[in-house]
Amino acid sequence: MNDQIDWSNLSFGYMPTDYNVRCSYSDGKWGDIEVSDSPYFNIHIAATGLHYGQEIFEGLKAFRGKDGKIRIFRLRDNAARLRDSAKGLMMAQLPEEKFVEMVKKVVKLNERFVPPYGTGASLYIRPIEFGTSAQVGVKPGKEYEFIVFVSPVGPYFKTGFKPSNICIMRQYDRVAPRGTGRWKVGGNYAASLEAGERAHELGYSAVLYLDPKEKLYLDECGPANFFAIKDGKYITPASESILPSITNKSFMQLARDMGLEVEQRHITVDELETIEEAAACGTAAVASPVGEIDDLDTGKKYIISKDGNPGPVTTELYNRLRGIQYGEIEDPYGWCTIVE
Ligand code: PLP
Ligand code: COI
Repeated sequence: MNDQIDWSNLSFGYMPTDYNVRCSYSDGKWGDIEVSDSPYFNIHIAATGLHYGQEIFEGLKAFRGKDGKIRIFRLRDNAARLRDSAKGLMMAQLPEEKFVEMVKKVVKLNERFVPPYGTGASLYIRPIEFGTSAQVGVKPGKEYEFIVFVSPVGPYFKTGFKPSNICIMRQYDRVAPRGTGRWKVGGNYAASLEAGERAHELGYSAVLYLDPKEKLYLDECGPANFFAIKDGKYITPASESILPSITNKSFMQLARDMGLEVEQRHITVDELETIEEAAACGTAAVASPVGEIDDLDTGKKYIISKDGNPGPVTTELYNRLRGIQYGEIEDPYGWCTIVE
């Protein structure tokens, strides 16, 4: 354990840890797994990852449970999504087994950075893959690097599990209608920076993006999906331009377990008038309740949380998810991988 860290007051940020793990792809195959204690990587100035945005990543977490064991949440789902992103950008696809082995290895090697149970913190795991071939022509590279590093983190939204306000701004899109939104591509985040900074300056925790084609339907919430609760239903946008969130998929299952109906469909902006609860959801965001949604173009304010507290359904979903992740309640779907 690491005595110098104030585990209960961690923010969501980078902290140096002991090791990262790496694997290179060349001559049509992935090489051996290497362990590094350096946070640096030597890269060719003509690498496709630098010029043409061949860069994808993942985000998952490991938790120290009530029983002292370390659990990694839905590891294989992240492995599969990385492969989808790689396919989307014509990058080499890392075999699922290699992803699993490397993530388990990097967590084990940095065990002393897995926050203690009861602090509310977790170990964020960040796998990245980028093109390393020296090329100037615009075509897929032949060489890739896959690296996994970790960092202990606290809540992503500063308010933690307290409602924060989000906003709609139609002049910004993070992705194109049939673009890269369904993959975890670095460029999507670059495209979201200006809108995100603008929203923060105005006091909002995130931007609620609308579908980039018609601007009629809700899409997602900056670095997280969006869900709402209405008439005993869990409602979440169906869209080709959002990331298929593993947290959202987990909440959909937990919502069904709680007897809610689950609807994945278009949600119009007007429908915000009728929703009872809303949250941003994702690995980093977990479930971050929404207090108010301000449409900055129409001036309309949708007040979601009337009393400034998270709603009862969002709270129950959050507790169930955290309970499984921290080993407090049964894991009926086998979502957690225990690191031996
Ligand atoms: N949407 C975007 C754009 C994200 O960056 C993330 C974070 O990974 C999510 C949604 C949530 O996905 P997940 O629950 O798999 O972390
Ligand atoms: C995550 O939730 O894992 C994310 O990737 C969100 C963000 C920090 C980019």
